Amino acid sequence: VVITDFHDKVLAHSMVAGIPQGLLQANQKGSADTYTIQRIRSDEGIIREIRMPLENGTIGYIRVGLRESFMGQEMAARMQKFLLSTLLVCVVGALFSSRVTAMITNPLRSLADSARKIRDGKLDAAISVTGSDEVGMLGVVLQDMQSSLFKTNTERNQLVEELCHKEEMHKILLNKVITIQEEERQRISRELHDETGQALATLMLSMQIMADSALDEKQRKIIMGSSELAANTLQHIRSLAVELRPPLLDDFGFVAAVNKYITAFQTLHGIPVALQATGAESLVSAEINLALYRILQESLTNIAKHAAASLITITLIHEKNLAILEIADNGRGFDVSALKQAYQENHIGIFGMKERMELLGGKLEIQSEHGQGTTVRATVPTATEKGEQNG
Ligand SMILES: Nc1ncnc2c1ncn2[C@@H]1O[C@H](COP(=O)(O)OP(=O)(O)OP(=O)(O)O)[C@@H](O)[C@H]1O
Ligand SMILES: [Mg+2]
Repeated sequence: VVITDFHDKVLAHSMVAGIPQGLLQANQKGSADTYTIQRIRSDEGIIREIRMPLENGTIGYIRVGLRESFMGQEMAARMQKFLLSTLLVCVVGALFSSRVTAMITNPLRSLADSARKIRDGKLDAAISVTGSDEVGMLGVVLQDMQSSLFKTNTERNQLVEELCHKEEMHKILLNKVITIQEEERQRISRELHDETGQALATLMLSMQIMADSALDEKQRKIIMGSSELAANTLQHIRSLAVELRPPLLDDFGFVAAVNKYITAFQTLHGIPVALQATGAESLVSAEINLALYRILQESLTNIAKHAAASLITITLIHEKNLAILEIADNGRGFDVSALKQAYQENHIGIFGMKERMELLGGKLEIQSEHGQGTTVRATVPTATEKGEQNG
């Protein structure tokens, strides 16, 4: 710092080692009312100086200078301090913000985990609720949702269990009904065949004897007429007995019984039936034989009743522990989607076939369209799960 009078004569200065050379000569053309800045070369290096007039130059001037090298050092030192403190603030700021972020996101993440567990059906997992803020409220709502879902789930499981039990009972009952019905049919069939059939045969024989010893021709004709009636009735009773329980089915197998049934059907309805059977004679159990036979009976009856067909094709295949019976006609066909309605109106033939197949672990499919004929396909496994033969 140098203070001069208005003639640039030094009045005072702060330099211990004296005023550097060239300093006073430089920066002398100062204005009286404003300051001037100059870069001055001296024997101590480059100096930056500001020169200000005191009382508009009437007293003199004050000149304040600093060595550039000193300024550089000072600037570098200050810059270093500034950078260090900035870095420190940044680190502290980052630590603080990550802590704050963790405080906000951790509860949210834990809630998201809980929501994911609920989605996956783990309804007994604990949900932690932290605080009474929005996140805490969300946790409480999630807890409520979880407990109401748990309740609904438990109720639904109970209902499903009850339903399964009822379904099981339904199957057992249906099985029983079918078995009882079949036994009853068998009993009536045997009775018709053995008792009523025998009685009629005896009656016919007696009438024959009576006709032989008739008193006149008129009497003989009446007796012969009655005998003929008895013979027709006997025939009817025999076919009814066969319809109720075909003896061939148990004694000679499925194909023999079907063949006999088809022959009678063709004669009665005049519709030709073609049968193709592969591997079916020996392997099917009595239970399956009977079920398939009933399906054939119902299908042929349906064709005679509803189809107005001119040809029926029956295919029976038994291979790889699976029996497939297919009955196809070329009749008028029908809308399969209307079957539910038909069932509600007490047309239960097809429904009964389906139930029978399902009881045996099989299925019944029907393909039909107006004018395109109908195909009924029954598929049933003929071996148990262990690979044993059924029946
Ligand atoms: N082969 C067929 N061709 C055309 N229509 C058929 C045939 N089979 C079934 N249907 C139709 O499907 C309906 C339902 O058949 P389903 O056997 O269940 O009852 P149904 O024969 O009318 O009466 P039920 O068998 O109870 O004595 C029939 O009423 C008929 O309209
Ligand atoms: Mg029917």
